Amino acid sequence: MVNRFEIIVFLSEYELKERVLGQSYDIEICLGSSCFSRGNREVVQVIRDFLRKNHLDDKVMLKGARCMNRCSEGPFIIINGKTFSNIGVQDIEKLLEKELV
Ligand code: FES
Repeated sequence: MVNRFEIIVFLSEYELKERVLGQSYDIEICLGSSCFSRGNREVVQVIRDFLRKNHLDDKVMLKGARCMNRCSEGPFIIINGKTFSNIGVQDIEKLLEKELV
């Protein structure tokens, strides 16, 4: 299980890759307290594993977002500008396959 510090370090690596390599996909995940505690903490790890497994780590910019003030509808994830809510660990791989692969 990752903690917030590890996520920030991880997200910084992606920001660096984006600046150096230029990325073609964009994933934003809400790391506000509500979304973080209601599933996005685990979803970040699943996304990392998915990107690594599918050799997409250099093509995807993954970044954390602040609370979007819609906590009751979360947890939120935004992929290439499309907003998805209530995406849990059980749903995220299918969503990534649909949106990225
Ligand atoms: S914590 Fe995600 S919308 Fe508020």
